[in-house]
Amino acid sequence: MERRKFLQCSASLLAVGAGLGLAGCGGSSTADAALKPYANDPVRPENFTNPLLIPGAEGPFGVLNVTDTPLTLNARAATFPILGGRASPFLQYETSYAGKTYQNPIFKIRRGGRFAAALQNGLNEPTIIHWHGLHIPANMDGHPVDSIAPGASYSYDFTVNNRGGTYWYHTHANHLTAKQAYGGLASFFIVEDDDDLRLAKALDLKLGETDLPLVIQDKRFNAAGELVYQPDPGEKMMGYLGDIVLVNLTPNAYLDIAPRIFRFRCLNGSNARIYKLAFMRGKELLAYQVIGTDGGLLDRPYPVKEAFLAPGERLDVLFDASRLRQGDTVFLKSLAFDTMENDGMMAIIGSSNGMSGNNSMDRSHGSTRLDDGLEFNLLKLVVTKPAPAPRPLPAQLSQILPIDIKGAAQRSVQVEMGHMRWLINGESFRMDAFPIDAKRSTTEVWELHNAKQSMPHPMHMHGFQFQVLSRQNSPKQIEALGVHGSGRIVSDLGWKDTVLVWPGETVRLAVDFSHEFAGDQTYVFHCHNLEHEDGDMMVNMRVRT
Ligand code: C2O
Ligand code: CU
Ligand code: CU
Repeated sequence: MERRKFLQCSASLLAVGAGLGLAGCGGSSTADAALKPYANDPVRPENFTNPLLIPGAEGPFGVLNVTDTPLTLNARAATFPILGGRASPFLQYETSYAGKTYQNPIFKIRRGGRFAAALQNGLNEPTIIHWHGLHIPANMDGHPVDSIAPGASYSYDFTVNNRGGTYWYHTHANHLTAKQAYGGLASFFIVEDDDDLRLAKALDLKLGETDLPLVIQDKRFNAAGELVYQPDPGEKMMGYLGDIVLVNLTPNAYLDIAPRIFRFRCLNGSNARIYKLAFMRGKELLAYQVIGTDGGLLDRPYPVKEAFLAPGERLDVLFDASRLRQGDTVFLKSLAFDTMENDGMMAIIGSSNGMSGNNSMDRSHGSTRLDDGLEFNLLKLVVTKPAPAPRPLPAQLSQILPIDIKGAAQRSVQVEMGHMRWLINGESFRMDAFPIDAKRSTTEVWELHNAKQSMPHPMHMHGFQFQVLSRQNSPKQIEALGVHGSGRIVSDLGWKDTVLVWPGETVRLAVDFSHEFAGDQTYVFHCHNLEHEDGDMMVNMRVRT
């Protein structure tokens, strides 16, 4: 409560400084609204009465097993029933294949397989698809420079050599990513390899039954139950938050389960909200196993009780319900945490000092009813089905070979606010500038440093998976989870393409720029807070031959 309020008021104060009114600040309207229960409020467990949308063999989020046959993906405006079955405007990728139709299909492909698809832009504005986490040539990657006009099409054809794991795809249109992804243009891209098959066999897991992709997104709706995306200038600066939390587009979702083990592939597909994932029965935190990160399986399962998940990141977990009894209820939750956003506000206020004519900080009219960092529920699990025979957890899952950093070039990357913008090494995105210029087949160690007066930034690299080496100067709530050596938390233990860097924190990572593509490759490195990305918190990352 207080935090959001503080932000709103700080923003309004700036606005006042610039000669605007003080609407909403100091008054009680926002505060009262936040205290009052509202329909679909995720804080209230009794609201969780909607069956979770489970990926089937077709339809929305249907699993499409990729073959060599080229697909056509139609990006277009449609409607989708989200709140109480009421149709909301929704953007989706539509395709048909082998007599079935799909909206936002979940692609599933064997490692080494070929993916061919033509994107048709049926929107009334430019768009392009980015395959988040995949190691593919730059011209296949959905760089914003490749955004296509309405009516145009773009052909993708690439081989997927990534490790098995939970990847995803979404729009990457220049300056329109946040709006289009929020509107619906995103889904999963699941790569399967031998390690995955072994795990599925050992635990008798089936995609769509006991192996479930879960995309978590917070959204806002108007009184008619329609999605609303109207970030005000303050929200463009801090990120757009919703107050209704969807899992697989289902608000207040529940799932009937058997007392057995489940694989949940959690994806934070939100524009800006960070979640701290935990399973709770009543007031009891239940341990779960983290088995995978952005770039696939870890070497072994790691037991935890809580883990952060920032926009763009994936966390593959095993939840063992086999000791639960019939009728037991468990909530997948986001626990309370310190969002450290006040620091970001301070950075903004500080950087606006002496600036004239900026009257854009009034966010009082658009603020969410669900405070950032608040504890709330995501998904209710209810044990209603009979128990199968228990299966032991495999001791080993895969192998993580550390990147050899002997002789690696060092690069320091500073993230901070300047001139009312979030900057990467002092830069904002320019199509024709290449602030990160690397060389093919070299290894680099990056020192990612987030300013003290800042906010958490989930920093994302296209084209390559990296490894986190260490965290330093972490805030207490991260330090407390950093039990894995060098300050690393559980999500740092595998291959990554997105890493959350907290204010004041330094994250060292290793990246190997080896690739098998012809010529220079230009990718991007950016913040996956999508308002930040669209605010040009992004730089070109060129890998020269
Ligand atoms: Cu998932 Cu450049 O983004
Ligand atoms: Cu990406
Ligand atoms: Cu950011």
